[in-house]
Amino acid sequence: MKYCLLGVAALALLHSTDGHVHHHRQVSKRALRQQVADHPCPKETLTNTVVVQLDQAGHTVDVQTRSARPPTTATSDHRVASTSSSTKRSTTTSQTVQSDRYIIPQPSALSHLLDPLDSNFLPDTSATFLGQRSNYGISYSPYKADSTCKNQEEVNKDIRQLRQFSFVRFYGIDCDQAETVTNAARENDMMVFAGLYDIDDIETDLQKIIDAADGNWSTFHTISIGNELVNRGSKTPAEVVGTVNSARGILRQAGYEGPVVTVDTFSQMIAHPELCEESDYCAANCHAFFDSNQTPENAGPYVLEQARHVSEATKDGKQVIITETGWPSAGEANGDAVPSRQNQMIAFKSLRRSFPDGGIVFFSAFDDKWKQDNAWTFGTEKHWGLYGLAKSAGGFPNLIGPLEDEV
Ligand SMILES: *[C@@H]1O[C@H](CO)[C@@H](O)[C@H](O)[C@H]1NC(C)=O
Repeated sequence: MKYCLLGVAALALLHSTDGHVHHHRQVSKRALRQQVADHPCPKETLTNTVVVQLDQAGHTVDVQTRSARPPTTATSDHRVASTSSSTKRSTTTSQTVQSDRYIIPQPSALSHLLDPLDSNFLPDTSATFLGQRSNYGISYSPYKADSTCKNQEEVNKDIRQLRQFSFVRFYGIDCDQAETVTNAARENDMMVFAGLYDIDDIETDLQKIIDAADGNWSTFHTISIGNELVNRGSKTPAEVVGTVNSARGILRQAGYEGPVVTVDTFSQMIAHPELCEESDYCAANCHAFFDSNQTPENAGPYVLEQARHVSEATKDGKQVIITETGWPSAGEANGDAVPSRQNQMIAFKSLRRSFPDGGIVFFSAFDDKWKQDNAWTFGTEKHWGLYGLAKSAGGFPNLIGPLEDEV
């Protein structure tokens, strides 16, 4: 087994040059994040990554191994967010910022999306299925707490609870999830945002998605080639872009005419606009929580501002979908960003206000009990699920229903 070991010299340097003596622990984490971003592992050693966490005296307090499996898909790879100069605190904290047209996704392939206000849209019109369906997506992984796969029946049960969302995002083709999630989405008149997590054998892996479509692509919102591959240091932007274009060719041949994108963090999208340019729209993950200056009240304006930066980094102001955003319900604080159920609700509402027409994928459907924390996840990794939030609101229809000031 090979490891990509992060050096410690640069960390010590950052410690000594950073004046914030009261925040050494965070500095340490930030330094680690920056270290990873600046020195991605050479790709041939990426079987596993060892993360070393240091205390302020430079002693190793924690060593963890991160495997290449999806556990890091979501919250753990936003380390750049805290250090990027483009992520300074928004000055629009107190004001509701509405999304501009240009960041609302309107890929032509989505034109067949049904009108969410059309009463015929929902098969179940009973009073218990209240309210309108949202234009939002929700991310979902079909793993049990012990990382084994959920079967079709279990996936059906999960997805049925998410049908207030217009589409469900999944990350890979393991566990037969292309098939099981697509089947379940069809049952609930939802679309899927499908993805490949690894891109080393796209012919074989895309075939799983092509098989799941079974000649009918109308369920497919988007197909993503990779999630945060550049941020994770496992591929260069050039490698990702090349693979996106090859994948698009394969998918067009198979009859899919919808958007083909790669997903990465907003910081990487800004740093490497070609990731955006070569995608059919910009697909960026953005979590305000990983910026230690952010409060949940500002989550929406913050994410909207980053989406704008992503768009502005492209030649023609390309459209953006935020393919992951949310707030953890438990874990350690990251500076001003404090996890709690209440803050998760505040952030959720803030995000809805800033993106009233959709254009975001909430992260995530359920608490991902199969994930492991590492040095930069603040103990939040298992606590991003919206399900608990929905329960406290009396169900997803209530959660997604009109906001107080819209009633
Ligand atoms: C394709 O799938 C959609 C959604 O499940 C369905 O409504 C439609 O009838 C299907 N089209 C064909 C030709 O089977």
